[in-house]
Amino acid sequence: MTCNPTRNPFAQTETAAVGVSIEGLSKSFGRFEVLKNVTFSVAPGEIFVLMGPSGSGKSVLLKHIVGLEQPSAGRVTVAGRDASSEATRAQVRMALVFQSGALFNSLSVYDNLALYPREHQIADEAAIREKVMRALQILSLEGSAHKAPSELSGGMKKRVAIARGLVMEPQLMLYDEPTSELDPVMAATISEIIATLKDEYHVTSIVVSHDRELALGIADRVGILMGGELVSLGTPADLRTPADPRVAEFLYPKIDLKNPRFKKLET
Ligand SMILES: Nc1ncnc2c1ncn2[C@@H]1O[C@H](COP(=O)(O)OP(=O)(O)OP(=O)(O)O)[C@@H](O)[C@H]1O
Ligand SMILES: [Mg+2]
Repeated sequence: MTCNPTRNPFAQTETAAVGVSIEGLSKSFGRFEVLKNVTFSVAPGEIFVLMGPSGSGKSVLLKHIVGLEQPSAGRVTVAGRDASSEATRAQVRMALVFQSGALFNSLSVYDNLALYPREHQIADEAAIREKVMRALQILSLEGSAHKAPSELSGGMKKRVAIARGLVMEPQLMLYDEPTSELDPVMAATISEIIATLKDEYHVTSIVVSHDRELALGIADRVGILMGGELVSLGTPADLRTPADPRVAEFLYPKIDLKNPRFKKLET
């Protein structure tokens, strides 16, 4: 599936957003079933936010989309092709911004970003430099190009990981907790970048996040995973007043100040 080709500022070629389809996906590690019959699809150019409690299977689901995990049952397709096949990864440019950043510690920030275009020989060194510096500028990291990842804060590593994704000129961008460890201003900037990629360049985005403001602010649709099941699928407007009490409790937790645990704080 494709939509209108659009010029990505990083790309030397035309890019077209791709759709993703998850059909009856189940995944077990040994006897532990982490994903249970999950079905949804993401349209080309859509921003889909996946939320859910810790351990509900969000990262495992993302790994299926980029072919790092294989389904125990069901099917995952990207642009109509099997996500686990080498051919799909060769044809569709996908960037996964890992929860941990997953940077190469032996390489500088600059070389981490330049790695993909160099390996795939998609530009000469001068053009790579332009792309890398532009991505660093967008993420307010110009001053860190020469640094090693070990010299950066957690939030800076996260931004480098996003910048590295941008340099890949992706048709599909997947983010795992892009705003965790960031201050509110930088979190808002990241949300803006995700929204800009959609509006101007029609990149398809799948964002795993605990950040309710981000989800309600930029998502076209939001899915909520609980215990490996997709318990809710709808628009941000649907989530203002969730019908399912589990979803309501997850999104709008009530703090019971009469709970004895809080008494200790009173003096
Ligand atoms: N390779 C693996 N082998 C065995 N169990 C795994 C593996 N990967 C993930 N799991 C388990 O699958 C469950 C879901 O993990 P996942 O990382 O998808 O959670 P998550 O929803 O991303 O949580 P968080 O919000 O904390 O990042 C966890 O119980 C985890 O221990
Ligand atoms: Mg995770």
